[in-house]
Amino acid sequence: MSDSLDRSRPASPDDPLTGVKHVVLVMSGKGGVGKSTTATNLAMALSKRGFRTGLLDADIYGPSIPTMLGVAGRPVSTDGKTIEPLERFGIKLMSIGFLLDDPKSAVIWRGPMLHGALQQFLKDVAWGELDYLVLDLPPGTGDVALSLAQRTSVTGAVIVTTPQNVATDDVFKSVSMCVKVDIPVLGVVENMSWFIDPAGVRHELFGKGGGAAVAEFAKAPLLAQIPIDQSVREWGDKGTPVVQAAPEGAMAKAYLDLADKVVEAVSARADMLREEPGLVIDRSGGPGGKRRLPVAK
Ligand SMILES: Nc1ncnc2c1ncn2[C@@H]1O[C@H](COP(=O)(O)OP(=O)(O)OP(=O)(O)O)[C@@H](O)[C@H]1O
Ligand SMILES: [Mg+2]
Repeated sequence: MSDSLDRSRPASPDDPLTGVKHVVLVMSGKGGVGKSTTATNLAMALSKRGFRTGLLDADIYGPSIPTMLGVAGRPVSTDGKTIEPLERFGIKLMSIGFLLDDPKSAVIWRGPMLHGALQQFLKDVAWGELDYLVLDLPPGTGDVALSLAQRTSVTGAVIVTTPQNVATDDVFKSVSMCVKVDIPVLGVVENMSWFIDPAGVRHELFGKGGGAAVAEFAKAPLLAQIPIDQSVREWGDKGTPVVQAAPEGAMAKAYLDLADKVVEAVSARADMLREEPGLVIDRSGGPGGKRRLPVAK
């Protein structure tokens, strides 16, 4: 991995993810737009491109990764201190779902416990050396992204939206959240952009233009438009992401192209930081450091 890529995540000495080159959040203000599907297939696609990849399910109340990757095991600790992530299709995985006795039971933790669990997932999981750690965030603008930004240096966020206005209204807020907590927006994925019926006719079921509007607002590229395709949902339910299940298919190609665009965006950011080092966020912490984020005032 070139030095240029490392520069895009200037981490402080106490950053918990010391062996991880890039931390990419997949988020959206909106529920059900396909964050988990995108995060899972993006992670698979990065892995297929030869990057050492991990996937962290940051959705404590509604974990999807165990189902989408067909993993039900329980993580173990070999040294009594760190937790070994599970592994599937060459990707390292961690989810609260692996720690629940009954996957159908609700997690009834309050905020502090939730943040404690997330912090442990960053600090105590033996992620080892990774090129990319992809995080699947819960819906909503908020506190999880903030909490993550305070605890680790985040390379950037991939914002997921669907094309219609009612979705983009909420997604704008998550872009604004990123700006407030100094998380760079790497780009936008418009999911469920259209549907091609068996006769080959294209239907824009949810309208169009949402991805481009969010990208413009975020001043970031529209990285991909992913159509609605039954295979994406079916393979997700079966626990084998479509990129793995049908690697030669059109949907796998869409996610591989997305992975290439994410890698490009990360490297463009590294170039920008090299040219303007002043843009590097000071995460050295300490009293008066920029670690106290603007929203906490
Ligand atoms: N491009 C697509 N084509 C077909 N089905 C899709 C596509 N993207 C997502 N889905 C399906 O839509 C549903 C919602 O997707 P997903 O769980 O990834 O959304 P989410 O944003 O993570 O939801 P939540 O806000 O609850 O975490 C799932 O059943 C998934 O399989
Ligand atoms: Mg989800």
